[in-house]
Amino acid sequence: MNASVSLLRPAPVNAATRPALTDALRATVGARAAAALALLREAVAEFGSQGELAFANSFGAEDMVLTDLILSNSLPITVFSLDTGRLPAETYTLIGEVERRYGSKLEIYFPDASAVEQYVRSQGINAFYDSVELRKACCGVRKMEPLRRALAGRKAWITGLRAAQSVTRSGLPLREFDATNGLEKLNPLSAWTEAEVWAYIRINEVPYNALHDQFYPSIGCAPCTRAIAVGEDVRAGRWWWENPETKECGLHAKEG
Ligand code: ADX
Ligand code: SF4
Repeated sequence: MNASVSLLRPAPVNAATRPALTDALRATVGARAAAALALLREAVAEFGSQGELAFANSFGAEDMVLTDLILSNSLPITVFSLDTGRLPAETYTLIGEVERRYGSKLEIYFPDASAVEQYVRSQGINAFYDSVELRKACCGVRKMEPLRRALAGRKAWITGLRAAQSVTRSGLPLREFDATNGLEKLNPLSAWTEAEVWAYIRINEVPYNALHDQFYPSIGCAPCTRAIAVGEDVRAGRWWWENPETKECGLHAKEG
């Protein structure tokens, strides 16, 4: 086969992002979405609407479900995102799309410029590949410190975590006290399956990160995220050079 023929080969379709929308799946997703929306409304009632309740948006598929539930229902919940400075181009494209589609500007937090300069000058531009400690230090500067600022003064935060995403997240409750950050943490999608997330996105025509169709189920920073092979764990492409037990950046660290 010559090169021009192989160039014409269609890109493989990622079935995970296009589940068959059976009546049963539509019904389950409808019920799950109603429950998630009810939980969000209860949180608004409990934690007030003065910016004390915030949703941490990474613009991954789960977070796009929550973005749609929050913004299309005009819930008074602050939507914020941590821009590490190393996000994939596709994520920036999606952020612009979300701003256009929902007509709202998002609260974006950036790392402290001098802390990034110091890390890069002392350790190197891609030092996170060199050791787990240096990787965690990079996440500390680019994600953890901005997260602390984003959560300051809040009473509760909302995440798109799902229990089925990894060994480190099994048993994830709908609501817990986040002792590390000192506020309540709500995980409205904790029991959702990947197929349910994608069914919601398809049914409601929610915008999503183009990388998902290229076999990236979980997306973080560009240098620390790769595509997965069929059958691999959904988080296998995050910090793929590390063991599954270390693969958290600290945003969702457990106490003790
Ligand atoms: S991570 O800890 O490994 O990076 P993951 O990408 O699975 O987390 O996302 C889990 C949840 O953490 C998201 O649903 C979102 O609530 C929050 N989160 C992760 N990354 C960000 C980010 N860059 N900005 C805001 N929230 C984020
Ligand atoms: Fe740094 Fe990678 Fe963590 Fe992003 S995911 S903050 S680039 S170590």
